[in-house]
Amino acid sequence: MPKIAQIIVAAGKGARIGGDIPKQYRLLGGKTVLERTIAATLSSGLIDYTVVVIAAGDTKAADVLSNFDVHFVTGGATRTDSVKAGLSALKDDAPDYVLIHDAARPFVSADLIARLVEALATHQASVPVLPLVDAVKTYDKDAIGTDIDRAGLRAVQTPQAFHYADIVNAFNAAPADASFADDIAVAKDAGLSIAAVNGSRDNIKLTYIEDFTRAERELMSDTNSR
Ligand code: CTP
Ligand code: MG
Repeated sequence: MPKIAQIIVAAGKGARIGGDIPKQYRLLGGKTVLERTIAATLSSGLIDYTVVVIAAGDTKAADVLSNFDVHFVTGGATRTDSVKAGLSALKDDAPDYVLIHDAARPFVSADLIARLVEALATHQASVPVLPLVDAVKTYDKDAIGTDIDRAGLRAVQTPQAFHYADIVNAFNAAPADASFADDIAVAKDAGLSIAAVNGSRDNIKLTYIEDFTRAERELMSDTNSR
């Protein structure tokens, strides 16, 4: 059995939502988003070790994290810096695999985690992807441009999964000050083999306040229908 670790990055500010508290500490159905994300990943039963990356000076983390068997480290100014801090925290007792996940995606499922792990038997990395549903067009200074063919595009989610040694090498090969949209981008630049697995429409990234409103509504209707 491979040893599987996960890094949950929770050191962002949630600027697009605004407000006083970063979105990972907002309440959703009475629990913080971070609690829900940790609980969802651990309930897969596939994760042996968890590192949560939190912001410097975070005063809320201790309360949340004390309920779980997880470790925490301090992140950095960009998501890339936060991921690097998480990878470093794993090096003394290195896992075979590492899953890197956004704290802002509390609806990750055990099935998705299983698909990602399974793909690592044949690839160095795996990533959940989804076809786009909306039409996509170029856009510049309020002007709508030309259509982009959706067939050749995919939306990309987390968790993203890697052989630990390979993703560490990939980050070491990247320019030290580079900031990447996600970790598969780092794997791609380093030439790792990447498996695309089916993502999940439920696995949204809470990004705007409307995402919270909708998620809250869906949690309520789940509770009422039970
Ligand atoms: N993240 C992080 N460290 C950073 C920036 C982001 O750990 N310096 C984490 C966030 O906490 C989040 C995940 O990366 O769980 C995905 O980032 P995003 O959704 O962009 O969150 P924020 O950066 O917090 O939000 P915004 O971009 O609106 O400020
Ligand atoms: Mg961000």
